[in-house]
Amino acid sequence: MTGRLQDDVALVTGAGDGIGRAIALRYAEEGARVAVAEINGPKGRATVEQIVAAGGKGLLIEADVRRSSEHSRLIDRVLTQWGRLDVACNNAGISGAMVPSGVMTDTQWQEVIDLNLTGVFYGVRAQVNAMLQSGGGAIVNIASILGAAGFETTAAYTAAKHGVVGLTKTVALEYGPQGVRVNAVGPTFTHTSWIDALPADAQKVLVARHPLRRFGKVEEVAALVAFLSSTEAAYITGAYYPIDGGYLAQ
Ligand SMILES: NC(=O)c1ccc[n+]([C@@H]2O[C@H](COP(=O)([O-])OP(=O)(O)OC[C@H]3O[C@@H](n4cnc5c(N)ncnc54)[C@H](O)[C@@H]3O)[C@@H](O)[C@H]2O)c1
Repeated sequence: MTGRLQDDVALVTGAGDGIGRAIALRYAEEGARVAVAEINGPKGRATVEQIVAAGGKGLLIEADVRRSSEHSRLIDRVLTQWGRLDVACNNAGISGAMVPSGVMTDTQWQEVIDLNLTGVFYGVRAQVNAMLQSGGGAIVNIASILGAAGFETTAAYTAAKHGVVGLTKTVALEYGPQGVRVNAVGPTFTHTSWIDALPADAQKVLVARHPLRRFGKVEEVAALVAFLSSTEAAYITGAYYPIDGGYLAQ
């Protein structure tokens, strides 16, 4: 059976853990060759090993996606290895310090914006140019429910994720005519080390805010990302898809 991304070349940032790893594994399961762009070498290597163990093709590229120059290096490496780029997912992100805006320091603001917004812009810019060389492609940016709603103590994160949604819409308008689709996905609180680090009572309060009364699963986010990256979503661009157990319906 052929997958929905059979023989495509895909790139996932921050694919050494959590949601990014699940996306990389799902892309590989769908038949894509997957470049794992990761700042943490051992974590990235573990993802590639999982892809290969399942019979797929993976490539680790150690990179810090906060830096503009790293993105040209990433694309060059992918093109040298596989000759094209069809699919990219800008996933790497951090939660940052949770403090009220009035006491958020310049550094706390900047470190979140640098990775969660500027890093995504650098990624999209490089990826669009690579995709134009082979007639188009699909980009999925990982935003958050906080790309559509506010949440106390997360000013930088929420601003960055709203920014990612706006960036997604604009790039979709610019490059749709040339065959590049760009969409954003907005997960709610999803089972990763972020959630595990929260105290049990805080987890309970958060779960209660979701009509489906549980956190999301990384595989569920990966399934949506795989769909949006595939030709099944050929007529979808510039869209923001929450995957949130009903959180934003309230
Ligand atoms: N987990 C959640 O509840 C949740 C909810 C909504 C949105 N998100 C978003 O999903 C994305 C992934 O989150 P996660 O929970 O899977 O995170 P995670 O911490 O589990 O994994 C993030 C990965 O990114 C890598 N990374 C960090 N900085 C990097 C950099 N500068 N360059 C390259 N790689 C880097 C890390 O080493 C790690 O492997 C983020 O954009 C996050 O904002 C997560």
